[in-house]
Amino acid sequence: MKITSVKSRWILDSRGNPTVEAELQSNGQWFRASVPSGASTGTHEAVELRDGDPAFHGKGVQKATHHVWQLGKKANGKEFKTQAELDSFLIQTDGTPNKRKLGANALLAMSLAGARAFAGKKPLYAHLASTLMRKPALPLPFANVLNGGKHAGTSLKIQEVMIMPTGAKTFREATQMVAETYQTLKKDAVTRFGAPAGNVGDEGGIAPDVPSVRQALDLVWRAVEENGYSQKMALALDCAASEFRDSRTGAYPVDGKILTANELLTHYVELQGQYRFVSIEDPFHEDAFEDFARLRAAFSGKCQVVGDDLLVTNPARIDRAQLSCNALLLKVNQIGTLTESLLAAQKAQSFGWNVMVSHRSGETDDAFISDLATGMACGQIKLGAPARGERTAKYNQLLRIEEDGVPLAKFRLP
Ligand code: PGA
Ligand code: ZN
Repeated sequence: MKITSVKSRWILDSRGNPTVEAELQSNGQWFRASVPSGASTGTHEAVELRDGDPAFHGKGVQKATHHVWQLGKKANGKEFKTQAELDSFLIQTDGTPNKRKLGANALLAMSLAGARAFAGKKPLYAHLASTLMRKPALPLPFANVLNGGKHAGTSLKIQEVMIMPTGAKTFREATQMVAETYQTLKKDAVTRFGAPAGNVGDEGGIAPDVPSVRQALDLVWRAVEENGYSQKMALALDCAASEFRDSRTGAYPVDGKILTANELLTHYVELQGQYRFVSIEDPFHEDAFEDFARLRAAFSGKCQVVGDDLLVTNPARIDRAQLSCNALLLKVNQIGTLTESLLAAQKAQSFGWNVMVSHRSGETDDAFISDLATGMACGQIKLGAPARGERTAKYNQLLRIEEDGVPLAKFRLP
């Protein structure tokens, strides 16, 4: 893949903040990619470079955008044989362990646009699958239909209540099940709590002002049942516990109580016994390797324990967490290049873990992750609600890919 020209610009993400987009020319064609952005960001993530000047209240990305252009100038005329070669050029040009010099947002825009250039005329998912020597498979969607925490601004501390259409035979059926349940949930919430309860959070899920996750789970499960899907759907949570933990005392104010880590663990075990959710993400704060491990042991064979802020898609942290979780949340912008993301997945899978590719709460209409999860055949993707253009872009890309005859993965516990 020979780069002959590179363009870069800022565009807006789904929260109205600027983000980096890169366009790269190779073999007479242009290839484009843009970068997502988190709100409940882990402190160990690679650096998202923001200008910090008055423009956009500090959130400008002029520097990162300029760095894409500089990288492009340096890469111009160079032949890259593999994605790994392109990404190591990016990593070496930055030269810092957390990408703080050029910004993970600058590197990732180049890395993802580069992947599309390597794919050329081939569908991106097919190209990724063939380089990984896997048969492509559509991932099962984890749909965040009820938003709390930093994505909602309500009393609900737990960030995400998700539904997974585990009994769907096709991705189209899965999408229909998720969309129908979502509409029922919205209607029920408005009936019970009034019109504002139907307003949506950052990931498109409704954001009713419920004080406890129990009430949120009741509301969601009722919508599942009303649609007749109780045998074909499962629940999942992302607690994003670092966001509500009191860093001064180490306690967790959640669900109307102030809990120690031990009490929180008991709370989760009780909730899982009642609601049978099969996946829980970031149940404790981002450095609580031991607490994670105790929950993983308690949930063995019943519920996967997913590391997001704990792992930040970083192979070194995954190594440390070998007994702490059994699923990796894979967010390409947490580490900054595609190659490093794939290495993180490989490491997780070598431990027998599941891998869930994930969007961020700030997204663009770029559906790269839909192709990525399909090409990796990792079986799981976290997409948000089936609402808001930046979320539906991902569902819709998966619906299109299915027309190529790609099968839908089955859910299995690690
Ligand atoms: P974020 O949220 O993109 O705001 O970090 C998503 C998540 O926590 O999984
Ligand atoms: Zn998370």
